[in-house]
Amino acid sequence: MLKVSHIDTFYDNVQALFDVSIEVGDEEIVAVIGSNGAGKSTLMNSIVGAVEVRHGTREFNGQNISKLKAHDCARKGIVQVPEGREIFSKMTVRENLEMGSYCIKRNAKEMNDKLGQMYYLFPKLKERAKQKAGTLSGGEQQMVAIARGLMADPKLLMCDEPSLGLAPVIVDDMFDIFQRVNKEMHIPILLVEQNAFMALDISNRCYVLENGHMIAEGDSKDLARQDTIRKAYLGG
Ligand SMILES: Nc1ncnc2c1ncn2[C@@H]1O[C@H](COP(=O)(O)OP(=O)(O)O)[C@@H](O)[C@H]1O
Ligand SMILES: [Mg+2]
Repeated sequence: MLKVSHIDTFYDNVQALFDVSIEVGDEEIVAVIGSNGAGKSTLMNSIVGAVEVRHGTREFNGQNISKLKAHDCARKGIVQVPEGREIFSKMTVRENLEMGSYCIKRNAKEMNDKLGQMYYLFPKLKERAKQKAGTLSGGEQQMVAIARGLMADPKLLMCDEPSLGLAPVIVDDMFDIFQRVNKEMHIPILLVEQNAFMALDISNRCYVLENGHMIAEGDSKDLARQDTIRKAYLGG
């Protein structure tokens, strides 16, 4: 589905990614782990052409998207939930979700059906539909950000550090939601995470990014058993 091959990404003349390749298959949850500054957000932004990718190729559903910019990628169904959520705090939960649909023309009934689907997935958000998003807890705000992404009918959902700043029990809820989105809605998911526990637990396959280089990849269960990965990312 998504195939990124040998990309080099730059901020002006400073190179942030070096010869990075990554693939996400149709039904997969794929994770990228790496410490702060490893290049995880840069990789996500590179996939949608939001930063300067100088070499390499990007393909989505067999189509070359190497030249496409972020808004074209969104139209093709690559939807990004950004780091830090970036929800509209002065708008209500419902308005935030409706904003997620801006690319798609829906009539009132279709919009209501889609909102209903989100409220089924996130019952908390139904209770809070009329509340200003800025007044929600961190976990609820992350749910708004994910639901807003889903409102755009993604063919691939990418999520940047969804567990950041959340209590462990809320992180568990977030896991369940990603599993359901993947299994019930058949949406492949690419997660980038500093939280290697979460990422390895939830994903089918995982990549390890260090200083802009992809240093390991494999089946998540196998990676979680490797000594070097355990020492560096799982505390022994
Ligand atoms: N807008 C930017 N301008 C210049 N350098 C940047 C910018 N964003 C990120 N970087 C640099 O690129 C590297 C990777 O950053 P980033 O992708 O944000 O890492 P991560 O998401 O893994 O924490 C870091 O060295 C960071 O300082
Ligand atoms: Mg980041």
